[in-house]
Amino acid sequence: MRVIIELDAELASRRCARFVADLVRKEPNCVLGLATGSTPLLTYRELIRMHKEEGLDFSQVTTFNLDEYVGLSSVHPQSYRQFMQVNLFDHLNINPNGTNIPDGRALDFEAHCRQYEQRIHDAGGIDLQILGIGSDGHIAFNEPGSSLGSRTRLKTLTSETIRDNARFFGGEDKVPRLAVTMGVGTILESRRCILLAFGAHKAAAIRDTVEGSVTAQVTASALQLHREVVCICDEAAAGLLVRRAYYAEVERAQSLLEAGERTQLGIGNQLG
Ligand code: F6R
Repeated sequence: MRVIIELDAELASRRCARFVADLVRKEPNCVLGLATGSTPLLTYRELIRMHKEEGLDFSQVTTFNLDEYVGLSSVHPQSYRQFMQVNLFDHLNINPNGTNIPDGRALDFEAHCRQYEQRIHDAGGIDLQILGIGSDGHIAFNEPGSSLGSRTRLKTLTSETIRDNARFFGGEDKVPRLAVTMGVGTILESRRCILLAFGAHKAAAIRDTVEGSVTAQVTASALQLHREVVCICDEAAAGLLVRRAYYAEVERAQSLLEAGERTQLGIGNQLG
């Protein structure tokens, strides 16, 4: 896993937005996997700026969101559909028909989850998945104990997640108890993932994800099995990582490679 540690959430989000923008420029009809919550907000703000000021074109992009609360209609102010409209889609030239979010009011959830997986498959799979992380180490709503091979399905939220999200609903008793969520297995099939984390309250989850064992108790740790994951954190979220010096070395080498400074890395030198 590549670990990029930036000074603050602003710089980290700009870095994330650059990864997204590079892909959208290279493959205008790419498929993006998107997250909600407070973590991706600055990334979305930067993408909106790039669209407005630099002409970043989203007209051919398809998106799939990770999850949605069960019981909320798409126009409910706390629904993830509303979140995405207000914080991203309404400000881009994206085709509304190309934006996919699970339906929290589906009548037959089993069929709906199957169809959601099929839609991802029919779109050619997800090229780049953006992820936040819960303080208990969850990705999407794959709470601790979720199968690491799980697919899109209904999931019961933990009391920790309900507590974390109560601020948006004006009280724990108003937070839905269930969500429809992509599974860990679904996420692992994305071609690339970016895991974002900001703040000291995410430090333990990031430590367990990046440097802990792969375990269903920290579903984000399954990303260690993925072939292309970039974890972008701010200083606070990286606060408990032991191998920080090495991650910085890797980034230094990466920058030299990107700048074409190959000899400084010993490439082409005769060492012995
Ligand atoms: C939301 C999602 C969740 C959040 C996580 C962190 O679509 O998938 O896993 O990413 O709960 O939430 P924030 O960003 O609000 O700390």
